[in-house]
Amino acid sequence: MTAHAAIKTIRTADHPIHAQFTERFSPRGFTGKTLTEAELLPLFEAARWAPSASNNQPWRFAYGLRGDAAFGKIADSLVPFNRSWAERAAALIAVASRTTVEKDGKDLPNSAHSFDAGTAWGYLALQAYHAGLVAHAMGGFEADVLAKNLNLPEGYVLHAVIAVGEHGDIEKLPEVLQAREVPNGRLPLAQIVAHGGFV
Ligand SMILES: Cc1cc2nc3c(=O)[nH]c(=O)nc-3n(C[C@H](O)[C@H](O)[C@H](O)COP(=O)(O)O)c2cc1C
Repeated sequence: MTAHAAIKTIRTADHPIHAQFTERFSPRGFTGKTLTEAELLPLFEAARWAPSASNNQPWRFAYGLRGDAAFGKIADSLVPFNRSWAERAAALIAVASRTTVEKDGKDLPNSAHSFDAGTAWGYLALQAYHAGLVAHAMGGFEADVLAKNLNLPEGYVLHAVIAVGEHGDIEKLPEVLQAREVPNGRLPLAQIVAHGGFV
């Protein structure tokens, strides 16, 4: 089944929502198309407008474009499985957030930093969808390697690396991954939400 056909059959929403939510997905096949900074920056712009606790905006991003040194530094941190397909992406983005917030001259823990960085990644992914691109998050990376390669400042933690590019060239993926280019489904709403208490 093609990804497009699968979206129509596997990804049916039980309630009316914008198509962006079911049509965005995380494939691993990328065409060789490169991205310019002008094409990439709108993704960060979307992330920038995410809500955050006290508008602290704890998210930070560092990126490389395929072929440049920064791309190599990020790719070097990926576990072999992710590296095998993500190296064909047009851009690799490291997502981090600041764990504290400055208040009255003191650094206080910000318990919302991960939650907020997750929201920002979600916005980035949806903007990628609207730009005709895909954004695939990866938790499979060596955090210590990535922190060193990108000079992660003290007080920040890394959350994910995101591969961004144009979806395609699926035939260049190993067969086992070609079969996984189909969008997946979701738990039913009744399993994740209940009126009056948690299920
Ligand atoms: C925080 C996070 C970490 C992930 N890590 C990986 C990863 O290391 N490798 C991978 O191939 N996909 C990874 N994924 C992709 C998920 O498997 C994928 O988002 C999930 O199956 C839902 O599918 P969809 O994004 O196509 O809707 C990750 C996604 C997130 C949000």
